[in-house]
Formats: sequence, C-alpha cells, structure tokens
Amino acid sequence: MKRSLITIGVIAVVSSACAVMAKGGIDENSLGLDKGSVFDTNERPAFEVKAAPPGGGNQLTTRSYQDAPPLIPHSVDGFIPVTLANNMCMSCHNTPDKIGKPRAEGQPVPIPMSHYMTGAYGKPDAGLKAKMDMKKVSGSRYVCTQCHRPQTNAQPLVESTFGK
Ligand code: HEC
Ligand code: HEC
Repeated sequence: MKRSLITIGVIAVVSSACAVMAKGGIDENSLGLDKGSVFDTNERPAFEVKAAPPGGGNQLTTRSYQDAPPLIPHSVDGFIPVTLANNMCMSCHNTPDKIGKPRAEGQPVPIPMSHYMTGAYGKPDAGLKAKMDMKKVSGSRYVCTQCHRPQTNAQPLVESTFGK
C-alpha cells in the first residue's frame, strides 16, 4: 500500500514537471551553438589552417593551460586521417631517444613519456617501468588528432570566459 502511494506520488511529480517543460518549452533558436533555428541548415563560417608544412618555419604555440595538449603548429595535409595501417604523426614524432634533449628548430618535438605509459590516461602507477614499451605508444594515444588539432583562424562559435 505504502509503496504504491509512493509510486503514484513520483509519477504525479514527474508528469507535472514534463507538462511545465512542454508548456514553457525551449525556444528552437536557443538550442544549438549556431545562431538561428535548429531546423535551418546554417552556413559555417569558413576557416583555414594557416601553417607551413613541418619544419617550414612554424613556431610552437603557447599552451591554453598547464598540461593542455599543444596545438599542431604545422599543416596536416596528407597526414590525416590516422588509421591503424598509417600513422604519419608517428613517423616523425616517435623518437623516444630524443626526449629531454635540446631540439633544433624545425625538428619534430618527441612524443612525451606520458604517451608511452599504459594504464588510465598515462597515470604513473606501480610497476610503471615494466609497463613502458618505448617505440610503441599507448593505445589511448595512438589517434593523435583525438587530442591534438591544427591551429586555424576559426572564430569561436560562442564567447568563452575561460581563463588560465
Ligand atoms: C614530416 C614530419 C612530421 C609529421 C608527419 C608530423 N609532424 Fe608534428 N611536428 C613536426 C615538426 C618538425 C614540428 C616542430 C614545428 C615545425 O617545425 O613545424 C612538429 C610539431 C608538432 C607539435 C607541437 C608540439 C609542441 O610542443 O608544441 C605537435 C602537437 C605535433 N607536431 C603533432 C603532430 C601530429 C598530431 C601529426 C599527425 C597528424 C604530426 N605532428 C605529423 C614534424 C612532423
Ligand atoms: C588522449 C589525448 C592525447 C592523444 C591521443 C595524444 N596526445 Fe600528445 N599530448 C597530450 C597532452 C595532454 C599533452 C601535454 C601533456 C604531456 O606532455 O603529457 C601532449 C603533448 C604532446 C607533445 C608535446 C611534447 C613536449 O615535450 O612538449 C607532442 C609532440 C605530442 N603530444 C604528440 C602526440 C602524437 C604524435 C600523438 C599520436 C601518436 C599524440 N600526441 C596523441 C594528449 C594527447
């Protein structure tokens, strides 16, 4: 008896909440990041990657915040998509013997140590050394473009007040 009363009460609360939402509704113009209705096909503002090929005089970018994945400062023409059979990024950046050594301008930045560790997001854990397999990045780091993006001149879709 008590249980069925509770159930009826819960159903009543949920359905009245739904009724309020349906009545007030959310305006179709404020549902998406694009200005305008979600039922329209909005034109994306054009943007381009303004960078030379690797080693073509690109400057490394400043990180957005500590531990942020750095932006790719060079063009990625011909390097993407990253597939199981073809990872061009690895062909230049997989140089663990150069980690921590001075880098001449125009040389690839070595993939950092964190990317060779297995385990949850490269977190150091017990038996770390044994788990590290240099020359073979962790599976969670294989698709570089999941985290590293080329820099473009795209304008933000919405204003951001994010600070460091
Ligand atoms: C032909 C060699 C080459 C290939 C292929 C390549 N890179 Fe690079 N990468 C470089 C060089 C060289 C630099 C240093 C900047 C420059 O000179 O352009 C660099 C810099 C970077 C940086 C900046 C690191 C920092 O500390 O700021 C990132 C990130 C990066 N590359 C990611 C990638 C990804 C992801 C791919 C694959 C989509 C890729 N690179 C493919 C050579 C390469
Ligand atoms: C899961 C996200 C993720 C993936 C996937 C990933 N990275 Fe990174 N990368 C990061 C983060 C976060 C940093 C900065 C912190 C650090 O050094 O670990 C970074 C740093 C770097 C740096 C700068 C190293 C330095 O010394 O300044 C290079 C170069 C780089 N990654 C290359 C690559 C390449 C090449 C791949 C693909 C094989 C790749 N990353 C895949 C997240 C990622």
